[in-house]
Amino acid sequence: MARRLAAARLIVASHNAGKVREIAALLGPLGIEAVGAAELGLAEPEETGDTFIANAVLKASTAAEASGEPALADDSGLVVPALDGAPGIYSARWARPGKDFRVAMNRIETELAARGLETVGTAAYFVCALSLGWPDGHCETVEGRVDGTLAFPPRGPHGFGYDPIFVPEGHRRTFGEMKPEEKQPLTHRARAFEQLAALLPPRP
Ligand code: IMP
Repeated sequence: MARRLAAARLIVASHNAGKVREIAALLGPLGIEAVGAAELGLAEPEETGDTFIANAVLKASTAAEASGEPALADDSGLVVPALDGAPGIYSARWARPGKDFRVAMNRIETELAARGLETVGTAAYFVCALSLGWPDGHCETVEGRVDGTLAFPPRGPHGFGYDPIFVPEGHRRTFGEMKPEEKQPLTHRARAFEQLAALLPPRP
């Protein structure tokens, strides 16, 4: 039996403001208050796992143990099968040192071209692993995914990260061209949340 959350508040183990905002918007309607790890001054652990799930578990258990409260961590990224899965778990790192996603998006286009592959229309997907950790070290973990294709040059002012180059299946516009309320239900994170709901307190 999976363990269920009893508290009405969760620490969101992320220092990424875009992510904390999206997670808070998904938890709100479920009656859960979300508090960002940065607000509590929690340190960000180094992501040493070699899968999305391993990194989500690492971040959730570190934040739960440090805060003494249940914590939710998301590890997510963009996978391009034609690039052997890159950037994958390195999605955030491809934008460093300046956290500049124009650099990261440009690198995807350059590496596809260097292999003589199509850039526009190439298959890609976002993955989101969500791990709910308790202070005693127990974790429950789920995973969601959204398939789509790549668009170059990047398009749209909304969202964050790789949103301007990702066109979700069944749509023509990139996530970056969609307003938050339009993007949110389509995402890998929303799909992972559908599964997480079974681990949250039952709604009255
Ligand atoms: P991490 O999970 O904090 O290691 O970072 C995941 C990285 O993947 C983020 O910094 C974003 O660049 C990217 N990413 C994850 N989800 C999304 C999304 O919904 N849109 C665009 N980029 C995303």
